Amino acid sequence: RRIILSGIQPTGTFTLGNYLGAVKNWRQLQKEYDCYYFVADLHALTVYHEPAMRRKASRAAFALLLACGLDPEESLVFIQSHVSAHAQMGWMLSCLSPFGDLSRMTQFKDKSAKHPEDINAGLFTYPALMAGDILLYQADYVPVGADQTQHLEFTRNVAARFNHVYGETFRLPEGYFPKAGARVMSLAEPTAKMSKSDENAKATIFILDDEKTILKKFKSAVTDSDAEVAFREGKDGINNLMTIYSAITGKSYDAITAEFAGKGYGDFKTAVGTVVADELRPIRERYAELLTDKAYLDAEIARGAERAAHIAEKTLAKAKRKMGLC
Ligand code: AMP
Ligand code: TRP
Repeated sequence: RRIILSGIQPTGTFTLGNYLGAVKNWRQLQKEYDCYYFVADLHALTVYHEPAMRRKASRAAFALLLACGLDPEESLVFIQSHVSAHAQMGWMLSCLSPFGDLSRMTQFKDKSAKHPEDINAGLFTYPALMAGDILLYQADYVPVGADQTQHLEFTRNVAARFNHVYGETFRLPEGYFPKAGARVMSLAEPTAKMSKSDENAKATIFILDDEKTILKKFKSAVTDSDAEVAFREGKDGINNLMTIYSAITGKSYDAITAEFAGKGYGDFKTAVGTVVADELRPIRERYAELLTDKAYLDAEIARGAERAAHIAEKTLAKAKRKMGLC
């Protein structure tokens, strides 16, 4: 079977965008592929967080992945730093990463422009660590959002360079962009991506929001001044609500337009809020259950790390041999 791999940073809780754009698809891929999914806590280290908060956030992210339906019997779910091969491979690959290429990464340019007083080397070599994550498991496909495609291209380049310099070692991964992968926009400003860090509390649905909060946020979602539920240029707010409704119910835009013909936006917003709340309720409940079962969660975290290490160590040993390290 082909191999799928992806990671998510443990920054706060996930948004409806993370869920519909990423994790829900990860769940659906489990049937067809060998899947590796991990909490990218080493990448999160590029930004300072209190150690206790960091530990808590990584556990919470792991539990959320399981709650979202990633099945540890079917997939390998783990926390990146628990598998030491990632840091080792990251260093080895950083020595094959041209300074110029790293300097051109838009994520680095954006982040370092935003916090010029706080640029660390990890922020700069971030793509080499990410390349290691992917190459250690010889992944065929990597489902990532548009913001990560440059890092994926970097990964292919560094893998090709390694293969050229030291001999055939790594499989070159490709991006995986599912047809159904929804891009979810802010409810307050529907031309911008829904994001964890939005300061406007009404802009973002978090996976753990309760029903009342979800309905309230959808009620106050920004729309337009006509009254037709139709997917059209210039109707960013309605387009976003239709995207969300369609991603959850599987209904086409035409079917949705027909369903709400002659009804107001109020009805439509309530309907979208309701399907979202119904979709997220079992996740929230499962998450709460997982957090109370400390022994189970600890055991799954340890088991995931052990199984991942077993695979990663093999690739690491091969790469070290090729480089003349052992
Ligand atoms: P991030 O939260 O930026 O670390 O992203 C984690 C994953 O969720 C990536 O695959 C992103 O592409 C995806 N993602 C984040 N925000 C959205 C959004 N608003 N719509 C769709 N996908 C998203
Ligand atoms: N950099 C990714 C993000 O911020 C997370 C990530 C780390 C990742 N390593 C990865 C994604 C490997 C895919 C494959 O979203």
